[in-house]
Amino acid sequence: MTAMGFELITERLKLRPFALDDVDALHRQWTEPGVRRFLWDDEIIARETVEEVVRSSRDSFAAKGYGLWVLEYKDESGVIGFCGFRDSDAVDEREGSIELLYGLSERWWGQGLAAEAAQAVVRYGFERCGFKRILAITDAPNTASVRVMEKAGMRFVKRDLHHNLDSIFYILTVEG
Ligand SMILES: CC(C)(COP(=O)(O)OP(=O)(O)OC[C@H]1O[C@@H](n2cnc3c(N)ncnc32)[C@H](O)[C@@H]1OP(=O)(O)O)[C@@H](O)C(=O)NCCC(=O)NCCS
Repeated sequence: MTAMGFELITERLKLRPFALDDVDALHRQWTEPGVRRFLWDDEIIARETVEEVVRSSRDSFAAKGYGLWVLEYKDESGVIGFCGFRDSDAVDEREGSIELLYGLSERWWGQGLAAEAAQAVVRYGFERCGFKRILAITDAPNTASVRVMEKAGMRFVKRDLHHNLDSIFYILTVEG
């Protein structure tokens, strides 16, 4: 399937799979102080790291039909954020092995856009990919991210260490 076949539309947003042309925009966004704080443990990542993530997402869409999408407003081009799935390194039968990820450039925070995108990709994951469970993990102080999980219909599983950080785990199963 071409990248076009994976596009999703929500009330305000257009979601399309990561492409190499998005690397610079994603790099700018992922190095913003408020974004990198939780997404990259405050590290200023290299452009090459972003390129690796984009390539890995592209390979994942080709092989498995899921990966990471850029978020754009429906009627405008320009990357405002991202959302999607990766195979989690917190694999556990009870928790599931597919992890939901999301983030927005700081100027777009507070409008419910991450939750809108998360709801669309969660639906895609269950309906089109046949996922049984979707996991989300966030640093415990990331209250806004926890709210996005709740607004996506997820439920709290546990608070535990993940990559040595105090983290909150949420899950959604296909049964709800
Ligand atoms: C987490 C993030 C995606 C939220 O995006 P968003 O589109 O602003 O989310 P929403 O507008 O749906 O708001 C989420 C909720 O968090 C609340 N919130 C926002 N900032 C908050 C804060 N600092 N403390 C407490 N609650 C906060 C909002 O009030 C909202 O709740 P409400 O809908 O009940 O009013 C965004 O903050 C972000 O990109 N952060 C950096 C990347 C990141 O942390 N990604 C998640 C990694 S797991």
